[in-house]
Amino acid sequence: MISLPKRVRIVEMGPRDGLQNEPGTVPTAVKLELIERLADAGLTAIESTAFVSPKWIPQMADHTEVLKGIRRRPGVTYPVLTPNLKGFEAALAAGAAEVAIFGAASESFSKKNINCSIAESLERFRPVAEAAARNNVRVRGYVSCVIGCPYEGDIAPARVAEVSQALYDMGCHEVSLGDTIGVGTPRKTQAMIEAVSRAVPIGKLAGHYHDTYGQSLANIYASLEMGVATFDSSVAGLGGCPYAAGASGNVATEDVLYMLKGLGIETGVDLDRVAETGAWICAILKREPGSKAGRAIAAKRAKQAA
Ligand code: HMG
Ligand code: MG
Repeated sequence: MISLPKRVRIVEMGPRDGLQNEPGTVPTAVKLELIERLADAGLTAIESTAFVSPKWIPQMADHTEVLKGIRRRPGVTYPVLTPNLKGFEAALAAGAAEVAIFGAASESFSKKNINCSIAESLERFRPVAEAAARNNVRVRGYVSCVIGCPYEGDIAPARVAEVSQALYDMGCHEVSLGDTIGVGTPRKTQAMIEAVSRAVPIGKLAGHYHDTYGQSLANIYASLEMGVATFDSSVAGLGGCPYAAGASGNVATEDVLYMLKGLGIETGVDLDRVAETGAWICAILKREPGSKAGRAIAAKRAKQAA
């Protein structure tokens, strides 16, 4: 039997990837309470907001208030997206200790999402990474469309490896591999990781899988088999990318926790508290929780209370 990592680190995406596609405005106070509840549940990395243009993503326009409003806890990081130096400087002024730069393995997606080619994006990220290093700010890197692109179809693993290596060489402490439109299946995911791990050490890779086709958990398992031990997920499966129409949210944190618990893999996160948080935020957003484990836990709790 293939041995799996004993411990997995979850990077919670709910407040950023989860809320960036919400049709209505989510009050800043709700975002702050969401972050607080996620930290209460034991999550130690909570991506909190994005210092992107409010014209592009109005849902993240309150980034400064969110980052400044967080009651920071020792041992918890609150990374934020910074697409360029302008975003980085604003994030730094608001007290960011970790930022993320986000590129893509697809030219068309790069253009739609951040309005520049892949090569231009890497040139934009370089000064961000340098400024971050000068200010002791950690940088995470994302590569979007690691399996497929909404505009170009299949993406070659070699292309993903190239962009991942560029981000890693710039000083990213970790490269998160985004299946932005959730088209991956386990063998394709493994082939992509195999290619990337020749350029970036496997311990520096994270899986960031959207659940559009319901394949995320299978892809996480396939990634665990390859030795990946960090995964991005979103409470209640919230989210999606505004520049990837029809793509659903990240894999639900509750579902990942349930699977990892069953596999005997430690996370340090309390599944019941995440499920409670998922039910709470979904009630506010007036949407059905997108986590099967979350719904099952809520139903069990309701039955016990009756
Ligand atoms: P641009 O229009 O090319 O930028 O946008 P520009 O440099 O030409 O500037 C145009 C205007 O934007 C100027 O303002 C700038 O000051 C302003 P004006 O003079 O017109 O008033 N501006 C900014 N304002 C606030 N914050 C900034 C900023 N930069 C410029 N940082 C830009 C380029 C990158 C800014 C834009 O395309 C953008 O904000 N894109 C963000 C898109 C986004 O957030 N997408 C979702 C996140 S990525 C994702 O979800 C994928 C991921 O989850 C992984 C996966 O699933 O694959 C990470
Ligand atoms: Mg995403």
